[in-house]
Amino acid sequence: MGTPTYAYVEKRLRRQCERLRTLTHDLPARLLYAVKANPNPAVLRVMRSEGLGLDVVSPGERVLAERLGFAPEQVLFSANNLTDAEMRAAQESGVLLNIGERSRLEAFGQAFPGARVCLRLNPKVEAGHHEHVVTADARSKFGIPAEEIASARAVAEAHDLRVVGLHQHIGSGIRDVAPFEQAVRVLLNAAEAFPGLEFVNVGGGIGIPYRPDQEPLEADRFQRAVGAPLRHFLEAHPSGGLSFWFEPGRFLVAEAGVLLVRVNTLKRASGRVFAGTDSGMGHLMRPAVYGAYHGVYNLSNPEGPLKPYDVVGNVCEGGDVFARQRPVQQIREGDLLAVLDAGAYGMAMASTYNLRPLPAEVMIRPDGRLDLARRRRPPEELIDALLEAEETAATRSPTAPASPAAY
Ligand SMILES: Cc1ncc(COP(=O)(O)O)c(C=O)c1O
Repeated sequence: MGTPTYAYVEKRLRRQCERLRTLTHDLPARLLYAVKANPNPAVLRVMRSEGLGLDVVSPGERVLAERLGFAPEQVLFSANNLTDAEMRAAQESGVLLNIGERSRLEAFGQAFPGARVCLRLNPKVEAGHHEHVVTADARSKFGIPAEEIASARAVAEAHDLRVVGLHQHIGSGIRDVAPFEQAVRVLLNAAEAFPGLEFVNVGGGIGIPYRPDQEPLEADRFQRAVGAPLRHFLEAHPSGGLSFWFEPGRFLVAEAGVLLVRVNTLKRASGRVFAGTDSGMGHLMRPAVYGAYHGVYNLSNPEGPLKPYDVVGNVCEGGDVFARQRPVQQIREGDLLAVLDAGAYGMAMASTYNLRPLPAEVMIRPDGRLDLARRRRPPEELIDALLEAEETAATRSPTAPASPAAY
């Protein structure tokens, strides 16, 4: 297999789906997968075969879900500053919109009076592995602040909108149950004011242990902190039909993926050994963007003695580092390294910075078979795309300016 390549392990994806079912087994739960974590179609097909629906956050993700055969009822569209045209296309496709701004709700109500809608609440609980992934503190752009929920309800009523769902998503990479517990309390409190609710959506955000000294979120504690209040709410509102939705991304896919890179250069300098690879921060941005930790494993020398390395990439940036002073089994030039726990927000956030083509993606099937999940594109495709506009202009008559629509 060539490198760099993202490899996903189907068995592990299914194991995480099973864990999620266990976490929520004593609730009337509906499980969605947050596509943003990893939109590879092979991953989405596994999720569908596990009975999961999808949380999508953009027109692109919505259309991908549709093209893969997810029914509109299986998809929740958590909108975020959509244009009128994007909102209309989503509504007409039949998916349920989850709206987190009063002005968008107003526009939606005017365009689709009487429609079903979900409201995204900001419960003002700060949580997440890094400040960039906190989505529910007072500075967050997401959701209708809890104290404004009555006025949002008034907007909905003015347009006969049926608020069938109440949603929150407080942040990502959360391994402590306390923020979930706090936010669920706010969410359920707000739910009291919406008698027509069909579901309450607790969002995603469950973290995973990236570092060897980190523990996963404890299932028992999660069930007590989150499951119990949801069950109590159900008992207090026995009208029936209410379900609880969960929409994790990272929890389902992070540990199922590795980024495979090859070491091409070993360099000793300033008392360090740099292991230079054929990938970099463009392919896995999490270390550069969040200071995130990813384990590194030498597949070519698994029994080798542990030695400290700076495992770095081929991008022209000082921050192009997978791991600093990390003990890895002794590395030789030519060795194949696995950057671990890279299945979530890895390829999904990858870029072609420095004009480096994106990695390929493969799915490892339970019987050991490898299926190509996205082909590696030749660098020429990048260059062609860059030169396309100029080359098109060169073939246009000099007196005919490009139409503004071309921009
Ligand atoms: C609305 C929404 N739902 C779910 C998720 C998934 O989050 P995570 O991958 O942390 O579970 C996100 C990610 O930010 C999100 O924005």
